[in-house]
Amino acid sequence: MGEEDEDSSDLATTDTDSTSGVEMRLPHLESEDVEQLPAFAQRRARLAAQGRDVGAHLVPFSLSYDRRRDPPREGECQHKLFFKIDGASSNCVRNAWRRAGFERTSKGGWNLWWGRPLKFQEHKKLNEYQKVCHFPGTYYLGRKDNLARNVSKFRRSKGPSSYPYLPVTYILPDDRARLLQDWRDRGEKGLYIVKPKASARGQGIRLVAKPDVEIKKGANVLVQRYIDDPLLIDGRKFDMRVYVLVTSFDPLRVYVFKEGLARFCSQEYHGENGKVGGYKSKLRHLTNYSLNKKSAAVEEEGDGEGIKWSLSHLKERLAAMGHDPAPVFERVDDLVVRTLLSVEDKINANMGMYVPHRGNCFELFGFDVMLDSALHPWLIEVNTSPSLATEWQLDKRIKNQLAVDMFNLLGVCGYSRQGMRAREEPPKKDAGFADKLRRQEIATGRRPPLASLTEGDADLLMECDEEQALAGSFVRVFPAPGSERYLPLFASQRYSNVLLNAWQQTPRSQRPPLPAPGAGKR
Ligand SMILES: Nc1ncnc2c1ncn2[C@@H]1O[C@H](COP(=O)(O)OP(=O)(O)O)[C@@H](O)[C@H]1O
Ligand SMILES: [Mg+2]
Repeated sequence: MGEEDEDSSDLATTDTDSTSGVEMRLPHLESEDVEQLPAFAQRRARLAAQGRDVGAHLVPFSLSYDRRRDPPREGECQHKLFFKIDGASSNCVRNAWRRAGFERTSKGGWNLWWGRPLKFQEHKKLNEYQKVCHFPGTYYLGRKDNLARNVSKFRRSKGPSSYPYLPVTYILPDDRARLLQDWRDRGEKGLYIVKPKASARGQGIRLVAKPDVEIKKGANVLVQRYIDDPLLIDGRKFDMRVYVLVTSFDPLRVYVFKEGLARFCSQEYHGENGKVGGYKSKLRHLTNYSLNKKSAAVEEEGDGEGIKWSLSHLKERLAAMGHDPAPVFERVDDLVVRTLLSVEDKINANMGMYVPHRGNCFELFGFDVMLDSALHPWLIEVNTSPSLATEWQLDKRIKNQLAVDMFNLLGVCGYSRQGMRAREEPPKKDAGFADKLRRQEIATGRRPPLASLTEGDADLLMECDEEQALAGSFVRVFPAPGSERYLPLFASQRYSNVLLNAWQQTPRSQRPPLPAPGAGKR
Protein backbone atom coordinates (compact mmCIF):
# COMPACT_ATOMS: atom_id res chain seq x y z
CA MET A 1 0.00 0.00 0.00
CA GLY A 2 2.65 2.33 -1.03
CA GLU A 3 4.47 1.06 2.00
CA GLU A 4 7.44 -0.82 0.85
CA ASP A 5 8.67 -2.46 3.94
CA GLU A 6 12.10 -1.37 4.90
CA ASP A 7 14.65 -3.78 6.25
CA SER A 8 12.77 -4.32 9.49
CA SER A 9 14.61 -7.58 10.04
CA ASP A 10 17.87 -5.78 10.72
CA LEU A 11 16.54 -3.79 13.64
CA ALA A 12 18.61 -5.78 16.05
CA THR A 13 21.82 -5.77 14.07
CA THR A 14 24.76 -3.67 15.13
CA ASP A 15 25.14 -0.75 12.86
CA THR A 16 28.38 -1.37 11.12
CA ASP A 17 27.35 0.50 8.03
CA SER A 18 30.04 2.77 6.84
CA THR A 19 30.43 4.90 3.81
CA SER A 20 34.17 4.53 3.73
CA GLY A 21 35.64 3.24 0.54
CA VAL A 22 32.49 4.11 -1.34
CA GLU A 23 32.82 6.40 -4.25
CA MET A 24 31.08 9.64 -3.32
CA ARG A 25 29.70 11.71 -6.10
CA LEU A 26 27.52 13.79 -3.81
CA PRO A 27 29.12 16.46 -1.63
CA HIS A 28 30.33 15.06 1.66
CA LEU A 29 29.96 17.38 4.63
CA GLU A 30 31.41 16.95 8.10
CA SER A 31 29.32 18.20 11.04
CA GLU A 32 31.70 21.12 11.46
CA ASP A 33 31.08 22.12 7.85
CA VAL A 34 27.34 22.09 8.39
CA GLU A 35 27.67 24.23 11.50
CA GLN A 36 29.77 26.73 9.54
CA LEU A 37 26.93 27.38 7.12
CA PRO A 38 25.41 30.81 7.72
CA ALA A 39 21.92 29.29 7.52
CA PHE A 40 22.74 26.97 10.42
CA ALA A 41 23.79 29.89 12.59
CA GLN A 42 20.73 31.85 11.51
CA ARG A 43 18.46 28.97 12.40
CA ARG A 44 20.05 28.68 15.81
CA ALA A 45 19.79 32.41 16.44
CA ARG A 46 16.19 32.59 15.24
CA LEU A 47 15.02 29.74 17.44
CA ALA A 48 16.95 31.08 20.41
CA ALA A 49 15.39 34.51 19.92
CA GLN A 50 11.99 32.89 20.17
CA GLY A 51 12.93 31.71 23.62
CA ARG A 52 13.49 28.14 22.51
CA ASP A 53 16.05 26.17 24.42
CA VAL A 54 18.23 25.37 21.45
CA GLY A 55 21.85 26.11 22.19
CA ALA A 56 23.75 22.91 21.63
CA HIS A 57 20.48 21.10 20.95
CA LEU A 58 20.29 21.95 17.30
CA VAL A 59 22.66 19.37 15.93
CA PRO A 60 24.33 18.99 12.55
CA PHE A 61 24.13 15.62 10.81
CA SER A 62 26.99 14.24 8.80
CA LEU A 63 28.41 11.14 7.20
CA SER A 64 31.00 10.72 9.89
CA TYR A 65 30.65 10.23 13.59
CA ASP A 66 30.52 13.51 15.48
CA ARG A 67 33.18 12.96 18.15
CA ARG A 68 32.28 16.13 19.93
CA ARG A 69 29.08 14.50 21.11
CA ASP A 70 30.72 11.82 23.22
CA PRO A 71 31.09 12.67 26.03
CA PRO A 72 29.41 16.09 26.17
CA ARG A 73 31.93 18.87 26.65
CA GLU A 74 32.13 20.90 29.84
CA GLY A 75 29.37 23.45 29.87
CA GLU A 76 27.69 21.84 26.90
CA CYS A 77 24.08 20.97 27.21
CA GLN A 78 23.58 17.59 28.86
CA HIS A 79 20.12 16.91 27.51
CA LYS A 80 20.10 13.95 25.23
CA LEU A 81 18.45 13.68 21.89
CA PHE A 82 16.22 10.69 21.31
CA PHE A 83 14.73 8.88 18.38
CA LYS A 84 11.94 6.40 18.52
CA ILE A 85 11.21 3.70 16.00
CA ASP A 86 7.83 2.07 15.73
CA GLY A 87 7.77 -0.02 12.58
CA ALA A 88 10.46 -0.53 9.99
CA SER A 89 13.64 1.48 9.77
CA SER A 90 17.00 1.29 8.07
CA ASN A 91 20.65 1.48 8.95
CA CYS A 92 21.14 4.68 6.99
CA VAL A 93 18.55 6.48 9.11
CA ARG A 94 19.57 5.04 12.46
CA ASN A 95 23.23 5.65 11.77
CA ALA A 96 22.63 9.27 10.78
CA TRP A 97 21.02 9.81 14.19
CA ARG A 98 23.64 7.92 16.14
CA ARG A 99 26.47 9.81 14.47
CA ALA A 100 24.75 13.03 15.51
CA GLY A 101 24.53 11.87 19.12
CA PHE A 102 20.93 10.66 19.30
CA GLU A 103 19.93 7.71 21.43
CA ARG A 104 17.14 5.30 20.81
CA THR A 105 14.24 5.27 23.24
CA SER A 106 11.14 3.14 23.58
CA LYS A 107 9.41 5.70 25.78
CA GLY A 108 8.10 9.24 25.33
CA GLY A 109 10.27 12.35 25.15
CA TRP A 110 11.65 11.50 21.72
CA ASN A 111 12.66 14.15 19.22
CA LEU A 112 12.26 12.14 16.05
CA TRP A 113 9.71 9.47 15.27
CA TRP A 114 10.34 7.00 12.48
CA GLY A 115 8.24 4.11 11.20
CA ARG A 116 4.49 3.78 11.12
CA PRO A 117 2.24 6.83 10.79
CA LEU A 118 0.72 8.05 14.04
CA LYS A 119 -3.01 7.64 14.47
CA PHE A 120 -4.70 10.98 13.83
CA GLN A 121 -5.51 11.50 17.52
CA GLU A 122 -1.94 10.69 18.60
CA HIS A 123 -0.69 13.88 16.91
CA LYS A 124 -2.56 16.05 19.39
CA LYS A 125 -0.02 15.38 22.14
CA LEU A 126 3.04 16.42 20.15
CA ASN A 127 5.19 19.21 21.54
CA GLU A 128 6.92 21.63 19.23
CA TYR A 129 10.25 19.82 19.46
CA GLN A 130 8.92 16.59 18.05
CA LYS A 131 9.06 15.56 14.44
CA VAL A 132 7.13 12.69 12.94
CA CYS A 133 8.01 11.14 9.60
CA HIS A 134 4.47 11.20 8.15
CA PHE A 135 1.74 13.76 7.67
CA PRO A 136 -1.69 12.64 8.78
CA GLY A 137 -3.47 11.02 5.85
CA THR A 138 -0.78 10.45 3.26
CA TYR A 139 -2.42 7.14 2.46
CA TYR A 140 -4.43 9.41 0.17
CA LEU A 141 -1.34 9.07 -2.00
CA GLY A 142 0.11 5.79 -0.80
CA ARG A 143 -2.89 3.57 -1.52
CA LYS A 144 -3.24 3.02 -5.22
CA ASP A 145 -7.03 3.38 -5.28
CA ASN A 146 -6.92 6.61 -3.24
CA LEU A 147 -4.24 8.05 -5.51
CA ALA A 148 -6.35 7.32 -8.58
CA ARG A 149 -9.44 8.85 -6.97
CA ASN A 150 -7.64 11.99 -5.86
CA VAL A 151 -5.96 12.54 -9.18
CA SER A 152 -9.20 12.05 -11.05
CA LYS A 153 -10.95 14.53 -8.74
CA PHE A 154 -8.12 17.01 -9.37
CA ARG A 155 -8.53 16.57 -13.12
CA ARG A 156 -12.28 17.05 -12.89
CA SER A 157 -11.77 20.26 -10.95
CA LYS A 158 -8.78 21.74 -12.81
CA GLY A 159 -9.24 20.24 -16.29
CA PRO A 160 -7.83 17.12 -17.97
CA SER A 161 -4.55 18.83 -18.91
CA SER A 162 -3.88 19.60 -15.24
CA TYR A 163 -2.60 16.08 -14.67
CA PRO A 164 -1.26 14.14 -17.69
CA TYR A 165 0.78 11.61 -15.71
CA LEU A 166 -1.46 8.81 -14.43
CA PRO A 167 -2.27 5.90 -16.75
CA VAL A 168 -6.05 5.54 -17.23
CA THR A 169 -7.19 3.69 -14.12
CA TYR A 170 -10.33 1.77 -13.20
CA ILE A 171 -11.28 0.87 -9.65
CA LEU A 172 -13.23 -2.37 -9.68
CA PRO A 173 -15.85 -3.61 -9.08
CA ASP A 174 -17.52 -0.19 -9.61
CA ASP A 175 -15.70 0.68 -12.83
CA ARG A 176 -15.99 -2.72 -14.52
CA ALA A 177 -18.38 -1.59 -17.26
CA ARG A 178 -16.20 1.42 -18.06
CA LEU A 179 -13.12 -0.77 -18.24
CA LEU A 180 -14.75 -3.19 -20.67
CA GLN A 181 -16.01 -0.29 -22.77
CA ASP A 182 -12.47 1.13 -22.91
CA TRP A 183 -11.13 -2.26 -24.00
CA ARG A 184 -13.73 -2.54 -26.77
CA ASP A 185 -13.10 1.05 -27.88
CA ARG A 186 -9.44 0.07 -28.34
CA GLY A 187 -10.45 -2.80 -30.61
CA GLU A 188 -10.03 -5.38 -27.81
CA LYS A 189 -6.29 -5.05 -28.32
CA GLY A 190 -4.84 -3.11 -25.40
CA LEU A 191 -3.19 -4.76 -22.42
CA TYR A 192 -4.19 -3.98 -18.83
CA ILE A 193 -2.34 -4.38 -15.58
CA VAL A 194 -4.31 -5.67 -12.60
CA LYS A 195 -3.15 -4.72 -9.10
CA PRO A 196 -4.38 -5.24 -5.55
CA LYS A 197 -5.54 -1.86 -4.21
CA ALA A 198 -3.10 -1.80 -1.34
CA SER A 199 0.00 -3.90 -1.81
CA ALA A 200 3.67 -3.61 -2.68
CA ARG A 201 6.65 -5.38 -4.21
CA GLY A 202 4.79 -6.54 -7.27
CA GLN A 203 2.70 -8.97 -5.21
CA GLY A 204 -0.56 -10.04 -6.81
CA ILE A 205 0.09 -8.10 -10.01
CA ARG A 206 -0.69 -9.55 -13.44
CA LEU A 207 -1.17 -8.44 -17.01
CA VAL A 208 -4.35 -9.29 -18.90
CA ALA A 209 -5.30 -9.09 -22.56
CA LYS A 210 -8.95 -10.10 -22.14
CA PRO A 211 -10.30 -8.31 -19.09
CA ASP A 212 -13.83 -9.64 -19.71
CA VAL A 213 -12.76 -13.19 -18.90
CA GLU A 214 -9.44 -12.75 -17.12
CA ILE A 215 -10.84 -10.53 -14.36
CA LYS A 216 -13.58 -12.18 -12.33
CA LYS A 217 -16.87 -10.35 -11.92
CA GLY A 218 -16.95 -8.64 -8.54
CA ALA A 219 -13.12 -8.61 -8.25
CA ASN A 220 -11.96 -5.92 -5.86
CA VAL A 221 -8.88 -4.70 -7.73
CA LEU A 222 -7.39 -1.75 -9.55
CA VAL A 223 -6.91 -2.02 -13.30
CA GLN A 224 -4.76 0.28 -15.39
CA ARG A 225 -4.02 0.65 -19.03
CA TYR A 226 -0.63 -0.95 -19.46
CA ILE A 227 2.03 1.44 -20.76
CA ASP A 228 3.16 -0.89 -23.51
CA ASP A 229 5.78 1.30 -25.18
CA PRO A 230 8.28 1.89 -22.37
CA LEU A 231 11.61 3.47 -23.11
CA LEU A 232 13.99 0.51 -23.28
CA ILE A 233 17.64 0.57 -22.40
CA ASP A 234 19.67 -2.37 -23.67
CA GLY A 235 16.32 -3.92 -24.52
CA ARG A 236 15.06 -3.78 -20.94
CA LYS A 237 12.26 -1.91 -19.24
CA PHE A 238 13.04 0.22 -16.18
CA ASP A 239 11.41 2.64 -13.78
CA MET A 240 12.82 5.36 -11.56
CA ARG A 241 12.66 5.84 -7.82
CA VAL A 242 12.54 9.55 -7.13
CA TYR A 243 12.92 10.63 -3.48
CA VAL A 244 10.65 13.49 -2.54
CA LEU A 245 10.75 15.27 0.80
CA VAL A 246 7.82 17.40 1.93
CA THR A 247 8.54 19.56 4.96
CA SER A 248 5.22 21.39 5.06
CA PHE A 249 1.85 21.41 3.32
CA ASP A 250 0.95 24.95 4.46
CA PRO A 251 2.88 26.53 2.85
CA LEU A 252 3.67 23.67 0.50
CA ARG A 253 7.42 23.00 0.47
CA VAL A 254 8.68 20.19 -1.71
CA TYR A 255 12.22 18.94 -2.31
CA VAL A 256 13.45 16.36 -4.81
CA PHE A 257 16.71 14.54 -4.11
CA LYS A 258 19.23 14.96 -6.93
CA GLU A 259 20.13 11.31 -6.89
CA GLY A 260 17.88 8.28 -7.04
CA LEU A 261 17.61 4.84 -8.55
CA ALA A 262 16.63 3.28 -11.84
CA ARG A 263 15.38 -0.28 -11.47
CA PHE A 264 15.55 -2.59 -14.45
CA CYS A 265 13.75 -5.74 -15.43
CA SER A 266 16.12 -8.68 -15.40
CA GLN A 267 14.82 -9.95 -18.77
CA GLU A 268 14.45 -8.24 -22.12
CA TYR A 269 11.12 -6.70 -22.96
CA HIS A 270 10.70 -8.02 -26.50
CA GLY A 271 8.22 -5.53 -27.86
CA GLU A 272 7.81 -6.21 -31.60
CA ASN A 273 5.61 -4.51 -34.18
CA GLY A 274 3.86 -2.60 -31.48
CA LYS A 275 2.97 -5.92 -29.80
CA VAL A 276 4.12 -6.94 -26.38
CA GLY A 277 5.43 -10.46 -26.17
CA GLY A 278 5.39 -12.78 -23.18
CA TYR A 279 3.08 -10.63 -21.15
CA LYS A 280 2.76 -13.25 -18.45
CA SER A 281 6.45 -12.99 -17.69
CA LYS A 282 6.88 -10.73 -14.66
CA LEU A 283 10.62 -10.39 -15.09
CA ARG A 284 10.06 -8.64 -18.42
CA HIS A 285 7.28 -6.36 -17.31
CA LEU A 286 7.55 -5.57 -13.62
CA THR A 287 10.56 -3.55 -12.53
CA ASN A 288 10.28 -4.29 -8.79
CA TYR A 289 13.72 -4.97 -7.40
CA SER A 290 12.29 -7.50 -4.93
CA LEU A 291 11.07 -9.64 -7.88
CA ASN A 292 14.03 -9.21 -10.18
CA LYS A 293 16.70 -9.84 -7.57
CA LYS A 294 15.41 -13.40 -7.30
CA SER A 295 16.28 -13.96 -10.91
CA ALA A 296 19.52 -15.88 -11.46
CA ALA A 297 22.87 -14.10 -11.30
CA VAL A 298 21.62 -10.77 -10.06
CA GLU A 299 24.37 -9.28 -7.99
CA GLU A 300 25.72 -5.84 -7.62
CA GLU A 301 27.76 -4.86 -10.62
CA GLY A 302 29.19 -1.48 -11.51
CA ASP A 303 26.74 1.40 -11.67
CA GLY A 304 25.12 1.22 -15.10
CA GLU A 305 25.52 -2.52 -15.53
CA GLY A 306 23.19 -4.45 -13.26
CA ILE A 307 19.46 -4.18 -12.52
CA LYS A 308 19.86 -1.11 -10.30
CA TRP A 309 21.53 2.09 -11.47
CA SER A 310 21.89 5.55 -10.03
CA LEU A 311 19.74 8.22 -11.64
CA SER A 312 22.86 10.16 -12.55
CA HIS A 313 24.09 7.19 -14.51
CA LEU A 314 20.72 6.86 -16.18
CA LYS A 315 20.88 10.51 -17.18
CA GLU A 316 24.31 9.98 -18.71
CA ARG A 317 22.98 7.05 -20.70
CA LEU A 318 19.94 9.02 -21.87
CA ALA A 319 22.27 11.76 -23.09
CA ALA A 320 24.43 9.18 -24.86
CA MET A 321 21.27 7.89 -26.56
CA GLY A 322 20.66 11.42 -27.86
CA HIS A 323 17.94 12.35 -25.33
CA ASP A 324 18.38 15.53 -23.34
CA PRO A 325 17.64 14.47 -19.74
CA ALA A 326 16.95 18.02 -18.49
CA PRO A 327 13.41 18.45 -19.88
CA VAL A 328 12.54 14.88 -18.89
CA PHE A 329 13.42 15.53 -15.27
CA GLU A 330 11.69 18.92 -15.32
CA ARG A 331 8.54 17.01 -16.21
CA VAL A 332 9.21 14.59 -13.37
CA ASP A 333 9.40 17.57 -10.97
CA ASP A 334 6.13 18.82 -12.43
CA LEU A 335 4.57 15.39 -11.88
CA VAL A 336 5.71 15.48 -8.25
CA VAL A 337 4.24 18.92 -7.55
CA ARG A 338 0.93 18.19 -9.25
CA THR A 339 0.55 14.88 -7.43
CA LEU A 340 1.00 16.63 -4.09
CA LEU A 341 -1.42 19.36 -5.15
CA SER A 342 -4.09 16.71 -5.65
CA VAL A 343 -4.12 15.97 -1.90
CA GLU A 344 -2.89 19.15 -0.23
CA ASP A 345 -6.36 20.32 0.82
CA LYS A 346 -7.18 16.99 2.47
CA ILE A 347 -3.88 16.79 4.29
CA ASN A 348 -4.12 20.39 5.42
CA ALA A 349 -7.60 19.71 6.77
CA ASN A 350 -6.09 16.92 8.90
CA MET A 351 -3.19 19.12 9.93
CA GLY A 352 -5.63 21.77 11.10
CA MET A 353 -7.62 19.27 13.14
CA TYR A 354 -4.90 17.16 14.70
CA VAL A 355 -1.42 18.64 14.52
CA PRO A 356 -0.58 21.30 17.11
CA HIS A 357 2.69 22.76 15.70
CA ARG A 358 3.72 23.82 12.24
CA GLY A 359 6.97 21.85 12.19
CA ASN A 360 5.72 18.55 13.62
CA CYS A 361 5.47 16.55 10.41
CA PHE A 362 7.64 15.79 7.44
CA GLU A 363 7.60 12.95 4.97
CA LEU A 364 9.94 11.24 2.57
CA PHE A 365 8.06 9.76 -0.37
CA GLY A 366 9.29 7.37 -3.02
CA PHE A 367 7.73 8.34 -6.34
CA ASP A 368 7.93 5.56 -8.92
CA VAL A 369 7.99 6.97 -12.42
CA MET A 370 8.22 5.22 -15.78
CA LEU A 371 9.22 6.75 -19.09
CA ASP A 372 7.54 5.73 -22.32
CA SER A 373 9.30 5.72 -25.67
CA ALA A 374 8.38 9.38 -26.19
CA LEU A 375 10.04 10.10 -22.81
CA HIS A 376 6.74 11.03 -21.22
CA PRO A 377 6.83 10.30 -17.48
CA TRP A 378 4.05 8.17 -15.97
CA LEU A 379 3.39 7.94 -12.26
CA ILE A 380 3.26 4.30 -11.26
CA GLU A 381 2.81 4.74 -7.53
CA VAL A 382 3.76 6.76 -4.48
CA ASN A 383 5.42 4.95 -1.59
CA THR A 384 4.91 6.52 1.81
CA SER A 385 7.63 4.37 3.40
CA PRO A 386 10.13 3.94 0.58
CA SER A 387 12.70 1.28 1.22
CA LEU A 388 15.92 2.76 2.56
CA ALA A 389 17.55 -0.65 2.69
CA THR A 390 21.23 -0.50 1.85
CA GLU A 391 21.85 -3.88 0.31
CA TRP A 392 24.22 -2.62 -2.38
CA GLN A 393 27.12 -0.15 -2.21
CA LEU A 394 25.07 1.94 -4.62
CA ASP A 395 22.21 2.08 -2.09
CA LYS A 396 24.63 3.07 0.66
CA ARG A 397 26.13 5.84 -1.38
CA ILE A 398 22.74 7.33 -2.17
CA LYS A 399 20.72 6.63 0.95
CA ASN A 400 23.29 7.54 3.61
CA GLN A 401 23.58 10.95 2.03
CA LEU A 402 19.82 11.17 1.61
CA ALA A 403 19.30 10.58 5.33
CA VAL A 404 21.94 13.12 6.39
CA ASP A 405 20.67 15.81 4.03
CA MET A 406 17.08 15.16 5.05
CA PHE A 407 17.77 15.67 8.76
CA ASN A 408 19.98 18.72 8.24
CA LEU A 409 17.27 20.28 6.16
CA LEU A 410 14.64 19.56 8.79
CA GLY A 411 16.66 21.03 11.63
CA VAL A 412 15.92 18.61 14.39
CA CYS A 413 15.98 20.28 17.74
CA GLY A 414 16.53 18.89 21.22
CA TYR A 415 13.90 18.67 23.88
CA SER A 416 14.38 20.02 27.35
CA ARG A 417 11.56 19.78 29.85
CA GLN A 418 13.11 22.46 32.04
CA GLY A 419 13.63 24.69 29.07
CA MET A 420 10.02 24.20 28.06
CA ARG A 421 8.80 25.07 31.53
CA ALA A 422 11.12 28.02 32.03
CA ARG A 423 10.52 29.64 28.75
CA GLU A 424 7.93 32.28 28.23
CA GLU A 425 5.08 31.45 25.91
CA PRO A 426 5.98 32.88 22.54
CA PRO A 427 3.82 35.81 21.52
CA LYS A 428 0.71 34.73 19.64
CA LYS A 429 1.49 35.68 16.11
CA ASP A 430 -0.77 37.58 13.77
CA ALA A 431 -3.95 36.81 15.68
CA GLY A 432 -6.98 39.00 15.35
CA PHE A 433 -9.45 40.12 12.77
CA ALA A 434 -7.28 42.75 11.09
CA ASP A 435 -4.61 40.21 10.37
CA LYS A 436 -7.10 37.67 9.04
CA LEU A 437 -8.33 40.33 6.67
CA ARG A 438 -4.77 41.16 5.60
CA ARG A 439 -4.07 37.51 4.88
CA GLN A 440 -7.26 37.13 2.93
CA GLU A 441 -6.46 40.16 0.81
CA ILE A 442 -3.01 38.78 0.06
CA ALA A 443 -4.37 35.33 -0.79
CA THR A 444 -6.90 36.82 -3.19
CA GLY A 445 -4.43 39.19 -4.82
CA ARG A 446 -5.96 42.41 -3.46
CA ARG A 447 -2.86 43.38 -1.51
CA PRO A 448 0.82 42.99 -2.47
CA PRO A 449 2.16 40.09 -0.39
CA LEU A 450 5.44 41.63 0.75
CA ALA A 451 4.17 45.12 1.57
CA SER A 452 3.11 44.51 5.17
CA LEU A 453 5.27 41.72 6.55
CA THR A 454 4.64 40.74 10.15
CA GLU A 455 6.89 39.06 12.65
CA GLY A 456 5.16 35.76 11.94
CA ASP A 457 5.80 36.18 8.21
CA ALA A 458 9.45 36.93 8.92
CA ASP A 459 9.77 33.77 10.98
CA LEU A 460 8.22 31.68 8.24
CA LEU A 461 10.31 33.21 5.44
CA MET A 462 13.52 32.77 7.40
CA GLU A 463 12.62 29.19 8.23
CA CYS A 464 12.07 28.48 4.53
CA ASP A 465 15.31 30.15 3.47
CA GLU A 466 17.31 28.29 6.13
CA GLU A 467 15.76 25.01 5.10
CA GLN A 468 16.65 25.59 1.48
CA ALA A 469 20.21 26.64 2.30
CA LEU A 470 20.70 23.47 4.39
CA ALA A 471 19.15 21.16 1.81
CA GLY A 472 22.39 19.51 0.65
CA SER A 473 21.53 17.49 -2.43
CA PHE A 474 17.81 18.13 -2.16
CA VAL A 475 16.50 20.68 -4.64
CA ARG A 476 13.39 22.64 -3.80
CA VAL A 477 10.84 22.26 -6.57
CA PHE A 478 8.03 24.14 -4.84
CA PRO A 479 8.26 27.02 -4.39
CA ALA A 480 10.89 27.50 -7.06
CA PRO A 481 11.47 29.90 -9.94
CA GLY A 482 8.35 29.90 -12.10
CA SER A 483 6.27 27.95 -9.60
CA GLU A 484 3.64 30.68 -9.32
CA ARG A 485 2.06 28.89 -12.30
CA TYR A 486 0.90 26.25 -9.83
CA LEU A 487 -0.97 28.68 -7.59
CA PRO A 488 -4.27 28.41 -9.53
CA LEU A 489 -4.12 24.63 -9.09
CA PHE A 490 -4.53 24.74 -5.31
CA ALA A 491 -8.02 23.80 -4.12
CA SER A 492 -8.09 27.12 -2.29
CA GLN A 493 -5.59 29.95 -2.40
CA ARG A 494 -3.50 29.92 0.75
CA TYR A 495 -1.94 33.04 2.08
CA SER A 496 1.26 31.23 3.02
CA ASN A 497 1.81 29.95 -0.53
CA VAL A 498 1.25 33.36 -2.07
CA LEU A 499 3.64 34.93 0.44
CA LEU A 500 6.39 32.38 -0.04
CA ASN A 501 6.11 32.41 -3.82
CA ALA A 502 6.31 36.20 -3.89
CA TRP A 503 9.39 36.06 -1.66
CA GLN A 504 10.97 33.45 -3.87
CA GLN A 505 10.31 35.42 -7.09
CA THR A 506 11.65 38.72 -5.73
CA PRO A 507 15.39 39.29 -6.27
CA ARG A 508 17.27 39.50 -2.97
CA SER A 509 18.18 43.16 -3.46
CA GLN A 510 14.53 44.11 -3.88
CA ARG A 511 13.14 42.23 -0.89
CA PRO A 512 11.86 44.36 1.99
CA PRO A 513 13.69 44.02 5.32
CA LEU A 514 12.16 41.47 7.67
CA PRO A 515 10.76 42.71 10.98
CA ALA A 516 13.02 41.60 13.84
CA PRO A 517 11.59 39.22 16.44
CA GLY A 518 9.86 41.10 19.24
CA ALA A 519 9.61 44.25 17.09
CA GLY A 520 5.83 44.09 17.23
CA LYS A 521 5.83 44.25 21.05
CA ARG A 522 8.01 47.31 21.42
N1 LIG B 1 0.33 1.10 -15.93
C1 LIG B 1 1.50 0.46 -16.01
N2 LIG B 1 2.11 0.29 -17.21
C2 LIG B 1 3.29 -0.37 -17.31
N3 LIG B 1 3.92 -0.92 -16.27
C3 LIG B 1 3.38 -0.82 -15.05
C4 LIG B 1 2.14 -0.11 -14.86
N4 LIG B 1 1.83 -0.16 -13.56
C5 LIG B 1 2.82 -0.85 -12.95
N5 LIG B 1 3.75 -1.25 -13.84
C6 LIG B 1 4.96 -2.06 -13.54
O1 LIG B 1 4.62 -2.94 -12.49
C7 LIG B 1 5.45 -2.70 -11.34
C8 LIG B 1 4.63 -2.91 -10.07
O2 LIG B 1 3.53 -2.01 -10.04
P1 LIG B 1 3.23 -1.09 -8.79
O3 LIG B 1 2.01 -0.33 -9.10
O4 LIG B 1 4.42 -0.31 -8.45
O5 LIG B 1 2.88 -2.14 -7.65
P2 LIG B 1 3.70 -2.59 -6.34
O6 LIG B 1 3.12 -1.79 -5.24
O7 LIG B 1 3.42 -4.02 -6.17
O8 LIG B 1 5.14 -2.25 -6.57
C9 LIG B 1 5.96 -1.29 -11.52
O9 LIG B 1 7.18 -1.12 -10.86
C10 LIG B 1 6.10 -1.20 -13.05
O10 LIG B 1 7.30 -1.78 -13.48
MG1 LIG C 1 5.91 -0.41 -6.96
